[in-house]
Amino acid sequence: MPDSPSALSLPEEDQLFRLLRQLDAAPEASQRVTAEALGISLGRLNTWLRAATEAGLVKVTERPGPDKRQRFAYALTLRGATAKTRLTDRFLASKLAEYDALHAELTGTASGLVPLKHRSNPMQNNLAPIPELYVSYESAQKLKVEAGELISHDLTPRQICDLELLMNGGFNPLKGFLSEEDYDGVVEAMRLADGTLWPMPITLDVSEAFAEGIELGQDIALRDQEGVILATMTVTDKWVPNKAREAEKVFGADDQAHPAVNYLHNKAGAVYLGGPITGLQQPVHYDFRARRDSPNELRAYFRKLGWRRVVAFQTRNPLHRAHQELTFRAAREAQSNLLIHPVVGMTKPGDVDHFTRVRCYEAVLDKYPSATTTMSLLNLAMRMAGPREAVWHGLIRKNHGCTHFIVGRDHAGPGKNSKGEDFYGPYDAQELFKQHEAEIGLEMVDFKHMVYVQEKAQYYPVSEVPEGSTVLDISGTELRRRLAEGLEIPEWFSFPEVVKELRRTRPPRSRQGFTVFFTGFSGSGKSTIANALMVKLMEMGGRPVTLLDGDIVRKNLSSELGFSKEHRDLNIRRIGYVASEITKNGGIAICAPIAPYATTRRAVREDVESYGAFVEVHVATTIEECERRDRKGLYKLAREGKIKEFTGISDPYDVPENPELRVETENVDVDNCAHQVLLKLEQMGLVAG
Ligand code: PPS
Repeated sequence: MPDSPSALSLPEEDQLFRLLRQLDAAPEASQRVTAEALGISLGRLNTWLRAATEAGLVKVTERPGPDKRQRFAYALTLRGATAKTRLTDRFLASKLAEYDALHAELTGTASGLVPLKHRSNPMQNNLAPIPELYVSYESAQKLKVEAGELISHDLTPRQICDLELLMNGGFNPLKGFLSEEDYDGVVEAMRLADGTLWPMPITLDVSEAFAEGIELGQDIALRDQEGVILATMTVTDKWVPNKAREAEKVFGADDQAHPAVNYLHNKAGAVYLGGPITGLQQPVHYDFRARRDSPNELRAYFRKLGWRRVVAFQTRNPLHRAHQELTFRAAREAQSNLLIHPVVGMTKPGDVDHFTRVRCYEAVLDKYPSATTTMSLLNLAMRMAGPREAVWHGLIRKNHGCTHFIVGRDHAGPGKNSKGEDFYGPYDAQELFKQHEAEIGLEMVDFKHMVYVQEKAQYYPVSEVPEGSTVLDISGTELRRRLAEGLEIPEWFSFPEVVKELRRTRPPRSRQGFTVFFTGFSGSGKSTIANALMVKLMEMGGRPVTLLDGDIVRKNLSSELGFSKEHRDLNIRRIGYVASEITKNGGIAICAPIAPYATTRRAVREDVESYGAFVEVHVATTIEECERRDRKGLYKLAREGKIKEFTGISDPYDVPENPELRVETENVDVDNCAHQVLLKLEQMGLVAG
């Protein structure tokens, strides 16, 4: 195996395919015969052979010739054979696509709408198949057995989403996770090394420990969370990214209030691996299978229905009447059919879960004239990158066969930054999209903000409201409030079926599960207040209450853990996991660990907030007071150096910046502290007044 990427570049894909096929058929042929068979010069053959050898595709051995002259045989290595299989599959797929188009044209079937000219350039047409990275079923079965021997990387949920769209052509023209050169180009200028527009780094992040065991040129197996091999990857690049630069350039600021920046710094591994992918199997989905389509499936569907122009609507929120109006108008304006294309992979933390959303979308779909509109689910992991994300979404929709794309105000906006300001200007996304519209290959359709005009009993774009009329609108925040408090949601705003679904998943807050998360120094009074709160909540009744006290957890869940940063984080993540499960199932979790690190507390908050409220309570007893009390005698031991890494003495504690509540315990009794928490819960609507 070479230990650095090939210095010579490999021939184009179809040339490489012909070369590997020829060598496989006649490994012992002389160079002259091989060159003739390929119709190229000896010099060119030599360059190709050297590149293929360097890339580990071909192995050269000496063999005895009939005369005294030195002769060589060119055998395909395992990698070469794999590449040949993959290229054969791709070649066949492109031929099948051509055949399909020709067949449709000659037989006049419904799919016969691909005009002749597109056969010479099938990939440019929004109705023709696009390349996928999958090998055939038979090859996949063989490769899976071989891949069993390879070092495996267990993909994270986000990487599984990325891999699926790489393999099915949703991220066309990417052929794998980005190489370092492509990554640099994408981060700096939204372009791959060859100049192609691509705004989002699609990277395979791994831990340092895993990266250490990987050599360049090595193949690795990529597995889902149950251990199923989905793909193999030939690692051509390995590097430590400058994450601060990535955050600045791609997301506009190195500010962890941005969900993707937070992910980058706190969840993503420290090292990136890059290289081409061989797709063996698509990730398994058990939900809404009939609604999930690959780009080629959607293209075939559009072909079948004769949909030449399709406008896509991207969404991560439930649809209400205003959305239905605006999408319908957009389709009319663009004289096209409509694709509702919601993201069901990963969206912004705290969004309505996709199960609920899809049930809502299905209800709304009935409101469109049936021949005009369809809905398909996109397993994308969003980054909330505003303008860049809009361009990315456009490219993805183009790959899915669409011709138009709706871009609105603050498209894929991440919310406020740590100073409380918007990350992007409201029309930055539309501007960036417009600049690159021709290259994206999709036309942008302006998203119109629709409002309800009471006198006319219908929706209007806000700019076209008749003068003097009464305009009604409900913001997202107001809707959430009404749902949380069980208040009325008017018929003019949403469809009864949608409201019913939302109410089913999100009952009023006073009936939802939630987590109270106490944090503070050892001896600050967390456990005592938590106990008092638990008793008060049990007295009120209605929901089961579980106390996850620091000491109790360490006995039952984390008995093997110590107090290093790594172990503390693991301990808190476990508490967070249990709390999020309790919250999901409608219970109340009260946690009372020290939880000294802000990033870990934030991660737990995100886990819990997918299901219910997270109430952080900082028990703000000073370290001096805790040490003075020294209930367990641990501070004395810590001062004497007998307990190492003791929080507040020899280990850090990040004071919470924005807890829901801060309680002082000096000169205040426990009952009063617990009561303060109860009042907070009442104010947040979590317990009935
Ligand atoms: S952490 O950091 O959140 O994982 O800690 P936690 O699980 O809450 O455990 C804290 C309890 O363990 C005792 N203890 C220590 N605390 C801090 N630092 C060190 N090195 C340490 N060693 C033992 C201590 O009694 C804590 O209990 P509480 O209930 O907080 O007083």
